[in-house]
Amino acid sequence: MRKLWLSSYGCQMNERDSEEVLGMLTAQGYEMASEPEAADVILLNTCSVRQHAEERAFGKMGELSALKKERPKLILGIIGCMAKLQQDAIFKRLPTVDLVAGPAELYDLPYLLAEIQEQRQSMNGGSVNDRVMAVGRPFRPLHQRPPGDYRTPGVTAFVTIMEGCDKACTYCIVPRTRGQEISRPAQDIIEEIDRLVAAGYREMTLLGQNVNSYGKRFPDGTGYKGPLGRLRLLEEDPETLLDFPQLLRLIQRRTSVPRVRFTTSHPFDATERLFAAMRDCPSVCESLHLPVQSGSDRILRAMRRGYTAHAYLKKIEQLRRDVPDISLSTDIIVGFPGETDQDFDATIRLMRDVGYDNAYVFKYSPRPGTDAAARDDDVPHDVKEHRNQTLLALQQDMLQRKQRSLLGTTTELLIEGPGKRPQQWFGRTRGYLGAIIDHHEPLTGRFIHARITRYAGSTLFGERTDVS
Ligand code: 5AD
Ligand code: SF4
Repeated sequence: MRKLWLSSYGCQMNERDSEEVLGMLTAQGYEMASEPEAADVILLNTCSVRQHAEERAFGKMGELSALKKERPKLILGIIGCMAKLQQDAIFKRLPTVDLVAGPAELYDLPYLLAEIQEQRQSMNGGSVNDRVMAVGRPFRPLHQRPPGDYRTPGVTAFVTIMEGCDKACTYCIVPRTRGQEISRPAQDIIEEIDRLVAAGYREMTLLGQNVNSYGKRFPDGTGYKGPLGRLRLLEEDPETLLDFPQLLRLIQRRTSVPRVRFTTSHPFDATERLFAAMRDCPSVCESLHLPVQSGSDRILRAMRRGYTAHAYLKKIEQLRRDVPDISLSTDIIVGFPGETDQDFDATIRLMRDVGYDNAYVFKYSPRPGTDAAARDDDVPHDVKEHRNQTLLALQQDMLQRKQRSLLGTTTELLIEGPGKRPQQWFGRTRGYLGAIIDHHEPLTGRFIHARITRYAGSTLFGERTDVS
């Protein structure tokens, strides 16, 4: 039996991709190796969103290359975003790498690995020429997924609903790495959710680079494509012409999944229709990750985000009317080219105005080939670092305020597994806050109600008031 070792960097989309790769390859007869030293095939699933992520992957693969000295038959592969972006650099810098396959070629992996093996057999040993580079597909054929699935055992699961990104944010490499937007047929999504519910999963996170534009383009060429198509949506049968709000309603109606989340949302495509669907679907959690990136209109324009700070705040206002106890989180980039102290102050103001529960803060990292990379990366490193620290402190502050407001209240927790200490259980609120409770019996996978008694760091602590 051939042994596979896979390591993953990057976002939740990449995590899910790694699960899919494990599933496809184990269905082909591969077995998971516990360590790279025991593997016949080593794959790194990589990320290109910041330079740091790429350097880590180059470093890791450099280390792993040493294994090939003792075992020349070992296959080394780099897959995912960096494979697409750095295809030539990888083969140049890492001569031991045999396979480079981008995100759109994920489903080709069983065939690509078989191809390498066949070439080696026919050449009786293998040479530098048996390297395979697969990076040319415009999008991932989401409807042609090879059989096999592997899931991290647990209570929560990711469900891919779309791939790729048609936006053109000037700092972002993702449209180049993941290709064009393509949506997964709704029936496939419903069937996967049904299977996961039957297997005991209780919370699904619907995944895509921009889930709000779900339905624009399906693999069979249908979809609403463009604003006129969106208008048609209002008239047509929602079962045949779908957008994301309708998908949420469909999941509510057709499946019995108790909790649904989704990520990532682009504010431009987060509409009143979405907020209304969130309001109307009891399974959809009161939680939204809505990356704003900056609070300065000047910077938002330079990022080509398609909204102003005012328009973003207006959307939040509408959302809060529909879903009053919504928990919000965001992504912020500090140190985008030309970001002044005034721009940064505008970001602080916006964050305070919104009152996020969580904010992921990133220092700007120029990505070759993006429009922003043509501009001078002129915010000094120490200024980026300082702004980063300022926002992290602000985020802590906002989280604590939220935690304090929950003291004494009773809230639903879905228990995800044991806590750190014996007889402790870790769960999350519908707003995605982590909480620990004590209980003498196993509670994993159960919904319980807990009264929040205290908090420490990012964790709430509570007492169980019932078990359902
Ligand atoms: N530099 C820094 N952060 C970036 N992000 C995307 N591209 C870059 C970049 N070039 C951040 C954005 C995005 C998150 C996933 O990563 O905030 O929402
Ligand atoms: Fe990294 Fe973006 Fe690719 Fe995710 S989509 S792996 S964050 S580059």
